[in-house]
Amino acid sequence: MQQSLSIEAKNILENNWRQGFTVPCEGLYPFQWHWDSGFIALGWMHLDLERAFKEIQSLLKGQWKNGFIPHIIFHNPSDSYFPGPEVQASHLSPFAPEIPTSGITQPPVLGWVLGEMYAFAKADSRMLPFLNEVYDAAYHFHEYLYTHRDPKGEGLVYICHNWEAGTDNTPVWDSIWDTMDSPEYDLDRKDNLHIAASHRPSNREYQHYIHLIELFKSYAYDDALIAEKSPFLVQDPLFNAMLIASNAALIDLGRILGKLEKVSQLEQWNAQSKKSYNQKLYDPELKGYVYYDLRNDRALPVLSSSSFTALFAGIPDKNRAFEMIEAFAKGPFSGKQKEFLLCASFDPSSNSFDPKRYWRGPIWINLNWLLYRGFRKYAALELTEQIKADTLYLMKKYGFYEYFDPRKEQDKKLTQGYGGKNFSWSAALTLDLLLNK
Ligand code: DGY
Repeated sequence: MQQSLSIEAKNILENNWRQGFTVPCEGLYPFQWHWDSGFIALGWMHLDLERAFKEIQSLLKGQWKNGFIPHIIFHNPSDSYFPGPEVQASHLSPFAPEIPTSGITQPPVLGWVLGEMYAFAKADSRMLPFLNEVYDAAYHFHEYLYTHRDPKGEGLVYICHNWEAGTDNTPVWDSIWDTMDSPEYDLDRKDNLHIAASHRPSNREYQHYIHLIELFKSYAYDDALIAEKSPFLVQDPLFNAMLIASNAALIDLGRILGKLEKVSQLEQWNAQSKKSYNQKLYDPELKGYVYYDLRNDRALPVLSSSSFTALFAGIPDKNRAFEMIEAFAKGPFSGKQKEFLLCASFDPSSNSFDPKRYWRGPIWINLNWLLYRGFRKYAALELTEQIKADTLYLMKKYGFYEYFDPRKEQDKKLTQGYGGKNFSWSAALTLDLLLNK
């Protein structure tokens, strides 16, 4: 059974490979996506290390001169996605590379992915030359984030677009959309041609997404103007946890590569980031890390699966981690009678929870993988086993879909997952769960 699962996963990655990078999903996402690439590289490292290297090298072809790494790199033309390169118009920025990209980013996974690759293949003679080649670019992205995305010098960087969170349409953003008066654009959406509209963000949400991009274009993607004016400016727990995990990995790798000045700068950034993350983002009543809306100067006290990614990054001390893990095990995400498979992407006890719609409730395999590693790091053995077992159960029953209904009641009736089929990171991370001991 497990063997056939890994063979299927391998076939999906092979089919989604496009001479240098892997599309997240044929048709629906026909280019290279930033954080997808990181998770996908973890799958490739088990199958073909050269492809894992290429995935990262292709991502870096989209890096801007100021260190910024965009969320989409448009390596190839395609008419199956909106908003494509003509809408995102990266050429408006003086820093953009020749290759068209988006002008917003995604969670900074690169550093810790390089750490995973090194841990897996350090004996391979190709590993150190590869790390030497890409290390400075990974560092430069962190330098960009701390220089341009942290206006108060807190060590917590902001995101200025919901797509930068990765959790694109989480209900967390609803109260931000309420502060915006976006025009009613006529949108040429393509996602709903591939996927049922009831499983995707609403048209009104897309109007906000596009409005933010239009604003940033009118500022020529200038960071100072975005910081001053963007109606969406949020310190996101997942984005900052990824940054902290990536800082830590770049510190370890930098020592190995002899990049000691960079190591010392990364140590300073990381100490400040961890301190502020613990002080500012932890909600002692909810027992999880929450979001801070910098634009409107308010905490957004709600739990999503992102609230627990701090465990992956080793951010809480043991006492706090224990408190979080205990609350998680007894709380709404598993359900008092354990009525949910792990892990819903949004608090199932909230009125905004929607178990079918994209990031408003369904299970996502990358978040499951991050939580699995987080629970494991703090020796929460039952949850570690449960989330791994639930993930593999979903893959075996439904195949490598993009997202899944977390309700056990519904699982008895359903025969399909939701969103894109043959989704690359679902395949890649299943391989890692099966093969990485
Ligand atoms: C989409 O188009 O839904 C993507 O997730 C944006 O990055």
